[in-house]
Formats: sequence, structure tokens, C-alpha cells
Amino acid sequence: MNTLYGLLLLLHILAATIWTGGHIVLSVVVLPKVLRERSPEQLLAFESVYERIGMPALIVQIVTGLMLAYNLLPDISQWFNFANPLAHGIAAKLLLLGLTFCFALDARFRVIPNLSADKLLDMAWHIIPVTIFSILFVVVGVSFRAGWLY
Ligand code: HEM
Repeated sequence: MNTLYGLLLLLHILAATIWTGGHIVLSVVVLPKVLRERSPEQLLAFESVYERIGMPALIVQIVTGLMLAYNLLPDISQWFNFANPLAHGIAAKLLLLGLTFCFALDARFRVIPNLSADKLLDMAWHIIPVTIFSILFVVVGVSFRAGWLY
């Protein structure tokens, strides 16, 4: 069990470096240049390269995250029982996941298909929140050990 737990945690953290790190690079380095140069092409070029590693990382994140949550609290019906301190972090992670999905789906199906120089601000309003959520995922993750949410 200990080896499996270690392996899950390793995969979870490795995928977190890709997901959160990639979004920080996108927000801090790529996005300002795209907005300055009004260049949707540069944004789409980054997205198409990053997508290949970012999407698998998010899937690994979700699968290992659910397994880690099950290890922490095997009774799934307790995951939203806020009287149970262990549920706070799990519920926060699932809420962040739901928010990430809403923003990602809206970007993928509404904003990206019609992306033009005029719509770049709309895209920025998706990239920045998803980046903030990705950092909050890490903060909540660390809080399990640090006890910040108990
Ligand atoms: C992009 C999404 C995510 C990121 C960036 C992320 C990041 C992290 C990080 C950095 C840790 C800290 C590990 C440690 O301190 O040892 C962690 C722990 C954890 N994460 Fe995530 N996480 C994500 C998604 C999820 C999801 C969807 C769940 C499912 C509920 C989840 C459940 C957990 C659990 C239960 C732990 C605690 C593991 C333990 O210490 O036993 N995570 N996460």
C-alpha cells in the first residue's frame, strides 16, 4: 500500500508541475506577448503544442487525485460532509475541477473556434482564472499535509 501511495503521489505531483507550470508560463510569458502583438496565431500555436502534454497531465491528475482522495477518505459519501475536516480539501479540489471544466469547455467550444484579434481579451478572461485555479489546486493539495483547511 505504501509503495502504491508513493507512486500515486509521485504521478500526482509530476502532473501538477506540468498543469500548473504550463498555465503559469501561458499567463505570464505567452499571453502578454499575444495581447501586445494582437496575435491569436501565437496563442493557438502554444495551445496546440501544450495540449499534447497538458491534457494527459490533467487526466493523470484527476485519476490519481480521486485515488488519493479514496485513500484519505474511503467512504465517498463523506466527501461533501463538511463536518468531516478531511472532506474540506477533497470538496475544494472537486469544486476547482468543476470550475476548470466550465471555463475550459466555454473556451474550447465558444471562444477558440471564433478566435480573432478582437476576441483575445475574452480568451485572457479564461486563461487567467484557469491559471489561478491551477495554483489553488496546489495550495489545497499542500493543505492536506499543512492542515490549513482543518
Ligand atoms: C490540476 C489539478 C491538481 C493539482 C495541480 C493538484 C496538486 C496537488 C499537490 C501539489 C498536492 C500535494 C501533495 C503533497 O503535499 O504531498 C496534492 C495532493 C492531493 N490532491 Fe491534488 N491536485 C489536482 C487535482 C486533484 C483532484 C481532481 C483531486 C481529487 C479529489 C485531488 C486530490 C488530492 C488529494 C486527496 C491529495 C492529498 C494526498 C495525500 O497527501 O495523501 N487533486 N494535489
